[in-house]
Amino acid sequence: MTHTESIPIDESPLHLKKVSRIKHIILQKYLPSWTRILGSWNKRLCYFDCYAGPGIYEFEGKPVDGSPIIAVRTAKDYLTSNMGNELVLFFVEKDKKHQVSLGKELGKCGPYEQGLRIHLMSEDAREFVSGLLDQVPNLAPSFFMVDPYGHPLSIPILNKILKRPITEALINFMFYRINMDASNPKVQHHLDEMFGDDDWRKQDFLKESGNVREEGFLQYFLSKINAKYKFFFRIRFDSEDCVSSGRTKYYLVHASNHPKAVLLMKEVMWPLGDDEGLFDFSGRRQGVLFSPSPQEEDLQNFLTQRYHGKKIPFDTLREETWDLPFIEKQYRSAIKKMRNENLLAINPVTSKTDRGLKGQDLVLFY
Ligand SMILES: C[S@@+](CC[C@H](N)C(=O)[O-])C[C@H]1O[C@@H](n2cnc3c(N)ncnc32)[C@H](O)[C@@H]1O
Repeated sequence: MTHTESIPIDESPLHLKKVSRIKHIILQKYLPSWTRILGSWNKRLCYFDCYAGPGIYEFEGKPVDGSPIIAVRTAKDYLTSNMGNELVLFFVEKDKKHQVSLGKELGKCGPYEQGLRIHLMSEDAREFVSGLLDQVPNLAPSFFMVDPYGHPLSIPILNKILKRPITEALINFMFYRINMDASNPKVQHHLDEMFGDDDWRKQDFLKESGNVREEGFLQYFLSKINAKYKFFFRIRFDSEDCVSSGRTKYYLVHASNHPKAVLLMKEVMWPLGDDEGLFDFSGRRQGVLFSPSPQEEDLQNFLTQRYHGKKIPFDTLREETWDLPFIEKQYRSAIKKMRNENLLAINPVTSKTDRGLKGQDLVLFY
């Protein structure tokens, strides 16, 4: 090659596996409700994609949007029906090639609605977010997408984000990689950085293996995140990864401080699981045996025990029990069955009819 020849750049989009596509589906389903709900009382919202990526992938032979383009499309729809509002999108991407690709994809999304502001930042996510938090005392309600290849933003940074009012994060906890690094002295310092100290090195789960270690590690990670609601979705290895399908690749952790946010995320994640109610995805619906799904009877028994002799609005009941693996339609069905069995009564404050059950409808447990 002579000096005048340019370096050939491979412009074909990166291949996306099913187990990565699931993140996009979750985002695509969650963000429109997030904008609609928060945008109804906040003129300005912010979305931060901290590890933005190239904006386009190849999936099953076709081009598909990456997370920043999903956010842009959501913003366009939202601003078309909410003129006068503002959505500010920040895309942080360190890799030059991915940045160029993302810039191109963003160009194809124009023209942009009034109120849509896009900032493509060529920076390290950690430095960018730390700087932002230091410089901006009051952030508009914000959604942070934290989706690195390996280690996420450090826990101290995540906690600073989550301290801001009306702010939530969807964090990729790349378990297989972080778990591997935990046993490798050459890279253990990355975990010190991630956790913000070396306390993790003294934890008992490190002496364990298999599920006990995994559960211990996940719970330790979650315990370090200062948010009221932490909900996770487990994603296993893809058939393309050539690793046993039973093993966990990563967890998507949704961290928020509002019950409505976690309940909405549950509604979004639940139908995407392999098996109803397990919040667990492997990309292959058949041929894998899972533990049985949580049964509606379990919900009935739980509610009877917890609310015996009490009355409570339907929405409050769901908020108080947000960490149960059941979604709204299962609550509705379980409570109606219990009414038919004379175990409770319903005062239809919101739904106004005996057939409905929602909002402030009062459930009176006998
Ligand atoms: C898993 S990909 C992101 C995928 C994207 N969220 C999506 O779903 O379309 C991770 C991206 O983070 C970028 N990256 C890695 N380290 C980074 C850092 N410290 N700061 C900013 N970007 C980084 C990589 O170049 C890569 O494009």
